[in-house]
Amino acid sequence: MQDHLIIFDTTLRDGEQSPGASMTKEEKVRIAWQLERMGVDVIEAGFPAASNGDFESVKAVADTVKGSVVCGLARAIEADIKRTGEALSGASAARIHTFIATSPIHMKNKLRMSPKQVIAQAVKAIKWASQYTDNIEFSPEDAGRSEIDFLCQILEAVIDAGATTLNIPDTVGYTMPAQFGNLIHTLRERIPNSDKAVFSVHCHNDLGLAVANSLSAVMNGARQVECTINGLGERAGNASLEEVVMAVRTRQDYFPCDTKIDTTHIVPASKLVSGVTGFPVQPNKAIVGANAFAHESGIHQDGVLKHRETYEIMRAEDVGWGANKLLLGKHSGRNAFRSRLQELGIELESEEILNHTFMRFKELADKKHDIFDEDLHALVSDEVLILQERYRLLSLAIQCETGEIPYARLVISDDGKELHAESEGSGPVDATFGAIEKLLASGAKMQLFSVNNITCGTDSQGEVTVRLQKNERIVNGHGADTDIVVASAKAYLSALNKLNSKLERAHPQV
Ligand code: KIV
Ligand code: ZN
Repeated sequence: MQDHLIIFDTTLRDGEQSPGASMTKEEKVRIAWQLERMGVDVIEAGFPAASNGDFESVKAVADTVKGSVVCGLARAIEADIKRTGEALSGASAARIHTFIATSPIHMKNKLRMSPKQVIAQAVKAIKWASQYTDNIEFSPEDAGRSEIDFLCQILEAVIDAGATTLNIPDTVGYTMPAQFGNLIHTLRERIPNSDKAVFSVHCHNDLGLAVANSLSAVMNGARQVECTINGLGERAGNASLEEVVMAVRTRQDYFPCDTKIDTTHIVPASKLVSGVTGFPVQPNKAIVGANAFAHESGIHQDGVLKHRETYEIMRAEDVGWGANKLLLGKHSGRNAFRSRLQELGIELESEEILNHTFMRFKELADKKHDIFDEDLHALVSDEVLILQERYRLLSLAIQCETGEIPYARLVISDDGKELHAESEGSGPVDATFGAIEKLLASGAKMQLFSVNNITCGTDSQGEVTVRLQKNERIVNGHGADTDIVVASAKAYLSALNKLNSKLERAHPQV
């Protein structure tokens, strides 16, 4: 009998800590639905004490998701834990994840606490959390650079206090696979009550070793891996869910455990997260990159055609390539449209919004023959912007001709007031952004401009991400349209809308 390897997804928490990856409540719920459908055991939905918005998002996920445990992160502080307990009160199964730093460098410089004080605080945190749930996870932050004797002491104390999962984070992505595996082995051996808790790992990818470190830990007895879709996360990211899951599934001859993930949901989940956050997936990314199953060289193609296993260790369809369902065409009715949205976990707030989105769906179906789930997600993301945002694109005319200077003329709405502008530029997108800046003079610096096609073919919608920075703030704006210049204008305005909204939110680890 294989052991069960628990998959703890932290896309909505650590993933959201990537600069510019912040998600709205509706986006988080949509992603949580996809994670639940995929069979993720634990969904870390956020850090409720960060802001009221974060609290509401975690609450919405806890109230909606019923097939996975919903978890909230809390510092080892009573107020954080109370807020987290409240946010999770509607969950079918709730977990509180509390943490405190344990490395000498963090304790001295960040916490300014002695090791003894840190242990006492951790134990208190577990007691506070136990007022809300008996499913309690504890993380000694920066465990990868902590002293082993101290780790053994604090972990023994928190198990005694009631922690049921011990998560060992390599917070700064510093350890090597054999070393990290050995750390898990030693902790399990040396802590007298280690059999009373599940060992978990949470690895960052600063040296590109997050997945290797996680798998090495699994070989040494870890039975929970914390990971994110597409490896999203702080700095270089976290261990990628799809790589961990597929490594364990593909090498069942090697690993003594398996997950209960339905792998056919992996690619749709990857596309959803990439679309919502605007973080594109690199083409050669394992499992979910566009080239992951493409065979360019003649020798490989020949081998694959004769016998697929010559060069393929996994099947594209097993991870969800080609699984995107074709949605009815332009003749489909409102009910079919509504029920597909429901299947995707999308609840629109009112009949009026449904009608408006359906009308836009029809317009899109007129331009683009086949409509896929990805198109629907983009349509709904756009709808939220149309309804809530201060700046909206009303119309755009572009003039481009070989040998002529590109020119854009546009109309935007600023809280209902129409503003008109025109500009030349080095290309149509540059001219469009120039016209917007003439009107809004944002003072923001562009950090990234990227265009991707949502589905295949030249009739596909282009999805544009614009990353802007102003002072300390970095935001990502997204826009989708079959016309990539229109998509670019929408993305630029969406980034400006985000820069405009006041976002005061605490970072859990700072
Ligand atoms: O990287 C880290 O240490 C974390 C903890 C909060 C688990 O994200
Ligand atoms: Zn982390």
